[in-house]
Amino acid sequence: MFIGGYVSAAGLGLTCPEWPLCPSGVLPNEEYLIEWIHRFVAATTGTLVIATSVASWINKNAGRKIKFTSIFAATLVITQITLGAMVIDLKLHAVLVAIHLGVGILLFAMVLLTTLFAFKITKSTIKAKT
Ligand code: HEM
Repeated sequence: MFIGGYVSAAGLGLTCPEWPLCPSGVLPNEEYLIEWIHRFVAATTGTLVIATSVASWINKNAGRKIKFTSIFAATLVITQITLGAMVIDLKLHAVLVAIHLGVGILLFAMVLLTTLFAFKITKSTIKAKT
């Protein structure tokens, strides 16, 4: 979200006009660096969020709350990456950029809640063992 804010405020949103890769290919060059970092962090975040939701579904100690927040976060991250592509395709359409920001905030909230629930599970598991 921090890098996205910078991309937007610095007017770099269309420096890399293609999706999913910039014209330089898998690796960035100076021209597309900030946009490339935004996409790289998004891809890494997306993988971690999806892995967390799979882990919460197969963990026997995980309750309904963490299952819900983690699956919701996974859905949001997929939506957010798709929206990112549409933001580029529709040349930074204001409504889409606003939705991209809103989904980012909701995603942050779900990841935060998932983390809080995960700490609760760890605490209760430690308590049960002692
Ligand atoms: C986890 C995934 C992502 C998150 C959390 C995220 C978050 C954000 C945020 C918070 C902004 C700033 C919005 C604003 O200030 O109004 C932003 C801007 C932007 N994002 Fe993302 N983003 C993600 C993925 C992507 C992807 C995959 C792409 C494109 C391939 C993308 C393209 C853009 C562009 C072009 C802007 C700048 C819009 C403008 O110039 O106004 N984002 N992003």
